[in-house]
Amino acid sequence: MKPPLSIQITALGSYSPARVVTNDELSHRVDTSDEWIKSHTGIAVRHLAAELETTADLATKAVENLLANHGRTAAEIDGIVVATATPDYPGFPSTACLLAQRFGIKGPALDISAGCTGFIYALEVGRAMIITGAMKNALVVGSETLSSVVDWDDRNTCVLFGDGAGCALLESRQEQEGILDTYLKAEAAGAEALVIDPKSRTIKMDGRSVYSFAVRSIGQAIETLLKRNNLDFEDIAWIVPHQANQRIIAACAKRLGIDVQKFYLNIEQYANTSAASIPLALAEMQEKGLLKEGNRLLLVGFGAGLTYGGTLLTWHQY
Ligand code: UT7
Repeated sequence: MKPPLSIQITALGSYSPARVVTNDELSHRVDTSDEWIKSHTGIAVRHLAAELETTADLATKAVENLLANHGRTAAEIDGIVVATATPDYPGFPSTACLLAQRFGIKGPALDISAGCTGFIYALEVGRAMIITGAMKNALVVGSETLSSVVDWDDRNTCVLFGDGAGCALLESRQEQEGILDTYLKAEAAGAEALVIDPKSRTIKMDGRSVYSFAVRSIGQAIETLLKRNNLDFEDIAWIVPHQANQRIIAACAKRLGIDVQKFYLNIEQYANTSAASIPLALAEMQEKGLLKEGNRLLLVGFGAGLTYGGTLLTWHQY
């Protein structure tokens, strides 16, 4: 009998727009300072898309990066799942369909809306669609142009966000374990805490309530995934969290009683790129040689919805 299929991430790609905006530059626009932003969030700079650069444009560059880095071709890709809160078109077509058109991909293509947890949700949708046979493999993308929905006069939010895209190729393999478990949740009671206001088309956020939700929910996702897979913190090489605020991660590490060094953080250079932050971090870790054969990784996200969740996987080098 054949062993069950395991679904694995076999390639990664990313793209950050060229324009880098410092905290000091923002302090010319709103009443803020480099000191406040760094001490309250850990953010030093963010990358912002050019005026006409869209979410699909960033995603296209990330996919090109994946193909080039791993010697793959678009012809090998079957389906596309894009996680984004900032699609090129507000209703349809999906950003995934725009990518399908650009790369000549003919399989299923769909967008996922789960705020900053989007990449975790999209990974699970891709994984499930491979298992049911709906897709042979899945290109899972997180891409955002949050700069297009930020209120640049609101210091409470405009300093927090950045633009970017990251992607992962999910494929089935018979011989090795890959994605081991997924935990997905939505806490609808907090729906109004983080919204893109339909009238102004800008982000409105109750920062403090999202902050405490984030600390609690990441901890819960991590503990649940470890417990139900009989694993301990020592079994995990890296926790790769959604990058929203360095203080959230420090508070979460303290709550769990683990070393904050277990969490990979790059928020300093990118700010909060929502659904793109986890694949951006993974691609950067791979580039730095931090992902080793057999490493167990825990990806954890939280965000608008309010949604949260995590993916436990074993990393393999391809
Ligand atoms: O991806 C998921 C979505 N977002 C998040 O995860 C964000 C979660 N929340 C947070 O990260 C934090 O709550 C913030 C970074 C948004 C805010 O940090 P905080 O320590 O919770 O600050 P606060 O909201 O309690 O505000 C403290 C003070 C306020 O002034 P008053 O009312 O005490 O006089 C704010 O007006 O800081 C002020 N403030 C600022 N000051 C300078 C808020 N933003 C700024 C700013 N520069 N950019």
